[in-house]
Amino acid sequence: MILLDGKKTAATIKEEIAIEVEKIKKVGGKIPHLAALLVGADGASLTYVNSKVKACQKVGFNSTLIELPDNTTEEQLLYEIELLNRDTDIDGYIVQLPLPKHIDEQKVLMAVDPHKDVDGFHPTNVGKMTLEIPTFLPATPYGIIELLERYAIETSGKNVVVIGRSHIVGRPISILLSQKRKTGNATVTLCHSRTRNLKELTLKADIIVVALGIAEFLKGDMVKKGAVIIDVGITRIKDKSRKSGYRLAGDVDFESVSKKASYITPVPGGVGPMTIAMLLKNTLLAVQNK
Ligand code: GUN
Repeated sequence: MILLDGKKTAATIKEEIAIEVEKIKKVGGKIPHLAALLVGADGASLTYVNSKVKACQKVGFNSTLIELPDNTTEEQLLYEIELLNRDTDIDGYIVQLPLPKHIDEQKVLMAVDPHKDVDGFHPTNVGKMTLEIPTFLPATPYGIIELLERYAIETSGKNVVVIGRSHIVGRPISILLSQKRKTGNATVTLCHSRTRNLKELTLKADIIVVALGIAEFLKGDMVKKGAVIIDVGITRIKDKSRKSGYRLAGDVDFESVSKKASYITPVPGGVGPMTIAMLLKNTLLAVQNK
């Protein structure tokens, strides 16, 4: 079993980006500037956003974190988005999800200027991605593709099972892996809560992407020997023995599944760091597209 080391791979990608930033600086070009909008004080979201800001500093980007209170109205958030759309120094920005329940997520994502939509969540960019027109790919699926590519894992003709149909991960990765592209050409089955006989399907899969947000859902007896396992889940589980009061668990029962897998992503240190690296890559692309 080989660990798909997202932390190490993301560090390499960040070094590559830092080199590009140095080149931009040398010629007096525009330093990439990423902004993040965070509404409310969800602990996990704050951790993720802070990691994104820290990563910007690491590669030499400028970054801005805009924190809005829990009771921000939809109108106020749309106003902040309008300011970011107009700000010529901001090359790309993200609205950290989930948003508080009283805000219409779709309405907010549609207000983001597609040219600054480095998360790739705007319908224009989702449409382009689906039609194989170059655009920002959503960071987590893009990170999975990049990880598979850098470990030279063949996807062409393989049976892929994706568990979870979210707009952020499951749906886009199922589309990307089925496309005629370098890390693609797979036969993809997208499974979800209404799927019958999930185990029958996972047992036939060469590659399984698990992105449903249920800790340790995929067990060893659901996996074929030699399968490649991509674990997108990250759940905080109460653990009094830890200083933080919790431990992080993936959607994969690592203990049993790692005994069957040929390659597997750890949690933490797998898909998570790759997501951040690809967000930076998209921000660099936003500058290059100008
Ligand atoms: N929440 C969970 N994943 C993501 C992501 O990739 N982007 C944003 N904006 N919010 C998220």
